[in-house]
Amino acid sequence: MIPIAREVLGVLLRWVHLASAALLVGGFAYARAVAVPALQTLPSADRDQAWRRLALRFQPLVYGAIGGLLVSGVYNFLIHPGHSRHYHIVFGVKMLLAAHVFAAALLAVREPKPGRMTGLAISGFLVILLAACLARIF
Ligand code: HEM
Repeated sequence: MIPIAREVLGVLLRWVHLASAALLVGGFAYARAVAVPALQTLPSADRDQAWRRLALRFQPLVYGAIGGLLVSGVYNFLIHPGHSRHYHIVFGVKMLLAAHVFAAALLAVREPKPGRMTGLAISGFLVILLAACLARIF
């Protein structure tokens, strides 16, 4: 691949990774901290209906963000080979937490359990912490 095309693709996919992470983790942090408490003030029948309407709008964004993170993450990983053992250990923990975030997100858009969203937000922010560590470990 010509060097300029590789640079452009790298920036584009880095943006996809960051934007998808912001959307997925930020979206659920907002839902847990603001939307769910607001919905809990409604009678339970109205609450379920309101959540279903919100989830229907959020679902395509969640699927897109998960796809974006997987594609850009695998690309990012493959174009930077030759990392140390410590890098791979931290990366493995990041993958386990990312799997928890993806599973919790897919379940939460079907059934909004507050505990599920709390767990998702905690794992999501830990994943971002580990990503910051990975940028410093080689
Ligand atoms: C909840 C899911 C995820 C979140 C919130 C997340 C977040 C992040 C963030 C914030 C960065 C720093 C980006 C930068 O500085 O440009 C990063 C880097 C990275 N991510 Fe992810 N990520 C997630 C899932 C994944 C997945 C599924 C993969 C691989 C399949 C992956 C692979 C990587 C790689 C290889 C890097 C570069 C690390 C380095 O600096 O060496 N990420 N991630």
